Amino acid sequence: MAFKIGLLGLGTVGTGTVAILQDPLGRSPLLKEIEIYRVGVRSLEKTRGVDLPTGVLTTDLDSIVSDPDIDIIVELMGGLEPARSLILKAIANKKHVVTANKAVIARYGHEIYSAANEARVYVLLEAAVGGGIPIIKPLKQSLGANRIQSIMGIVNGTTNYILTQMTTEGADFGEVLAEAQKLGYAEADPSADVDGYDAADKIAILASLGFGGRVKREDVYCEGIRQVSAVDITYADKLGFVIKLLAIAEGLQGEASENLQLRVHPTLVPKDHPLANINGVYNGILVEGDPLGQVMFYGRGAGAGPTASAVVSDILNIVGILFSSEVTDDLDPLLSCVHQHYCQVTAIENLETRFYARFLCYDVPGVIGHLGMSFGNHQVSLESVVQIGFQEDCAEIVVVTHNVKEGNFRAALAEMEQLEAIKSIPSVLRVL
Ligand code: NAP
Ligand code: HSE
Repeated sequence: MAFKIGLLGLGTVGTGTVAILQDPLGRSPLLKEIEIYRVGVRSLEKTRGVDLPTGVLTTDLDSIVSDPDIDIIVELMGGLEPARSLILKAIANKKHVVTANKAVIARYGHEIYSAANEARVYVLLEAAVGGGIPIIKPLKQSLGANRIQSIMGIVNGTTNYILTQMTTEGADFGEVLAEAQKLGYAEADPSADVDGYDAADKIAILASLGFGGRVKREDVYCEGIRQVSAVDITYADKLGFVIKLLAIAEGLQGEASENLQLRVHPTLVPKDHPLANINGVYNGILVEGDPLGQVMFYGRGAGAGPTASAVVSDILNIVGILFSSEVTDDLDPLLSCVHQHYCQVTAIENLETRFYARFLCYDVPGVIGHLGMSFGNHQVSLESVVQIGFQEDCAEIVVVTHNVKEGNFRAALAEMEQLEAIKSIPSVLRVL
């Protein structure tokens, strides 16, 4: 008995998926039960990295999602539309769906999962976060006994590559971004990666799974890496840190889903922290739960092969269920999404964290005293203050605070911006 799949998209991940499905030897025996029945693309003229039988390729994607012979739709086209509408049409036609599209799931997950639950079909998304790293199924199943306390990770390979190169080469953001684009790591429009939106989509999905509630994408606080400079990377190094773009979901006191912190921002990570040594295009996700403690997931977060590995694992999960022919009207709650309520996310002003800030000050007597006074006025306690160098006529002062409330810290900065002795505050970063 062969199960028929309809693939939407034959780009990087689609091609990797077809390559695995066409070469089942030595892999799961269930792969032999899968037939690539139709593949939808934008252009029939493009040269493809895989061969498909005549007639399989089409530009009529609507006909794929409504084809009564197809069991599973695999959406690998990306973007919001028409991906969202095609997923919904597939569900309405009672097809199971596998997708790698974090942007669609993070924004329209509630609509898609409500429709899927109603139609009694599965929507699986292992490839949407962490590329080839298994993280979705572990959160849904293997870690189910745990009360999740935090999920913290490097979930965007492009920005991790850029920050790693900036650290090892001492180069500035712009130079490394241009090099990453030349190498094909960063897109021509790098905004989704470098402004943190891709990581925000991913942490919204992980938080929903880990903390057992729906998450509104707009509740994720998001800062990208454009403002990180080689100067800050050097200072961070001297202070014992590396700078990483972290995506963080943290449950605060009480019922986690009712008091959740969700944020993406460049962070000073202590060099001995498990995430400090995740370099290049690799991803790493650290999950902390009770009673397990910490568990770390590490691997390739993007690329044709690794991402296709996750896509095919989802296809296999569905085929396994279909193959047992025990399909009932009830979905397996460990594979489907059953959340009804929304997590309550706390505002960033209420975050308590350490901060790193770099000031350019006129070299006049008492300037450090002025800084100390403003911080003190807003209950910001300092861990260290160092004057390391000079830039033109200005002294460069770097401050690391103890844990403070973000709102208090921002109020202190606003006060300092008015001081005559302060020329500018070129960078403010959070410290893990
Ligand atoms: P891609 O290389 O740009 O491929 C997209 C494919 O979809 C192409 O085959 C394109 O057709 C087709 N397509 C797009 N819009 C279409 C439309 N309106 N009508 C018909 N066909 C359309 O994208 P990708 O890198 O494989 O990414 C696919 C998905 O995987 C995205 O959701 C992405 O976020 C996710 N993902 C990617 C990676 C990665 O490493 N690339 C990692 C994790 C997750 P043509 O070929 O004819 O242009
Ligand atoms: N643009 C993403 C990254 C691809 O750089 O990690 C994987 O989602």
